[in-house]
Amino acid sequence: MSDVTLQLDDSPNATLIAHTDKSLYDSLAEANIWLRKSCINGACGVCRCRLMSGAIDYRGRHPYGLNGGQQADGWILPCIAYPKSDLKLVHLRRQEPKS
Ligand code: FES
Repeated sequence: MSDVTLQLDDSPNATLIAHTDKSLYDSLAEANIWLRKSCINGACGVCRCRLMSGAIDYRGRHPYGLNGGQQADGWILPCIAYPKSDLKLVHLRRQEPKS
């Protein structure tokens, strides 16, 4: 297990430490950042965000919830993505607070 740094939403102050053995979704949730979700297995695309720098690993799974154009534009699926390096993520789709 290694620590990596996540920079979020273009803010130099919005950083957190994640671990290479946890999905991005779980690391963000531990930091109390809740992304929209539905399937949690890479099928629906609801959790998607955009990777601006760094590398992730889907560990043999396929991001069926993204079309080819989205993948080419850097969109990733945090529910099945594991960080391989420091990452910069933007366009996080946060859950709406429950009322
Ligand atoms: S929650 Fe469905 S692809 Fe991530």
